[in-house]
Amino acid sequence: MTEPTSQTHHIKPSDLTTLVQNILIGNGVPSDNAKIVADCLVQADLRGVDTHGSNRIPSYMERVRQKVLDPAASPQLSQVTPVVAQVDGHNAFGFVAAHQGMKHAIEMAEVYGIGMVSVKHSNHFGMSAWLVQQAVDAGMLSLVFTNSSPALPVWGGKEKLMGVSPIACGAPAGNERPFILDMAPSVAARGKIYKALRRGEKIPQDWALDADGNRTEDPARALEGVMLPMGGPKGSALSIMMDVFSGVFSGAAFAGHVTNPYDPSKPADVGHFLVAIKPDLFMSVENFKSRMDYLYQRVVGCEKMEGVDRIYYPGEIEQITRDRRLEEGIPFTEAEIAGLNREAEMVGVEKLRYE
Ligand SMILES: NC(=O)c1ccc[n+]([C@@H]2O[C@H](COP(=O)([O-])OP(=O)(O)OC[C@H]3O[C@@H](n4cnc5c(N)ncnc54)[C@H](O)[C@@H]3O)[C@@H](O)[C@H]2O)c1
Repeated sequence: MTEPTSQTHHIKPSDLTTLVQNILIGNGVPSDNAKIVADCLVQADLRGVDTHGSNRIPSYMERVRQKVLDPAASPQLSQVTPVVAQVDGHNAFGFVAAHQGMKHAIEMAEVYGIGMVSVKHSNHFGMSAWLVQQAVDAGMLSLVFTNSSPALPVWGGKEKLMGVSPIACGAPAGNERPFILDMAPSVAARGKIYKALRRGEKIPQDWALDADGNRTEDPARALEGVMLPMGGPKGSALSIMMDVFSGVFSGAAFAGHVTNPYDPSKPADVGHFLVAIKPDLFMSVENFKSRMDYLYQRVVGCEKMEGVDRIYYPGEIEQITRDRRLEEGIPFTEAEIAGLNREAEMVGVEKLRYE
């Protein structure tokens, strides 16, 4: 993860959480839910996933102001079978609906070994890894799927149709790091283009095509065009897979009908698919964890290619960034802090101060 270089200030995670929480409460989010949303956003900032952290607040709040996202909605959970439940998000924050869904999936898995929750009428939930972490913290394996707004052509197509919908999963370990995979099926997440645009930076040529189908380093032109799938038809197929499980199956929007989180003209109707699995279904939990530790050691300890200093486990770079940012604070550009402070001003809460 590249740290911003010019005019950056390191913000204490607790100060950032308080600011985000106060802005949310000022916009009508009940305080318990504001805490969930703020914690998820700051977790993304801490893990270096700046594209899906607190900088999303201005666009999320615009959706609240335009009344296309209901800040006070309470998602509704219905039990379908002992191991399956459905959450109707009622257009609440995706963080709130998905958090409730994963909490219930974990509770079902505690009793029956597995819990599956489908979520409809939800919104963007940012970085999927916070849900995987929620399951890891409860000692569970997990699958976390979501669909998202059109950004990617299907293989051979030229229009934006599928979302760059992340596929995420995880498993706890013993003494070593947990496995946390969280990846968009595009070469890069679209949030990385929004971040480059915000910071006036160029993007690598292999991330996107402009509206004329040409490779581009200009984030604004890239946003007019399409994201490139990773691995050609395979990335395109994974994004369709996210739409099958999260969109078609749940009853949420699908096939290109989810609204972009930066478009405040209509509700998003995002769908999610969440599974929690108990690790001791086929052996003792101690045995499972020691096997996970062995896998970690084999992966990071394998013979390296020339020029490679260190091999990282999925999610490890983000966990290292988190440890560092907990100590040093989270780097924000002045323009990003100004964007958050404008939101604070609008609802009359204390702004972020920096030296
Ligand atoms: N909610 C949404 O609609 C939405 C849409 C797109 C992306 N996102 C989020 O955007 C974020 C970024 O996605 P991305 O695809 O750009 O992630 P990425 O490419 O930065 O990382 C993808 C995965 O690869 C691993 N990884 C990266 N570099 C590695 C290395 N050198 N060695 C070993 N493992 C490595 C990471 O730990 C991660 O699990 C994710 O958190 C995703 O959930 C959300």
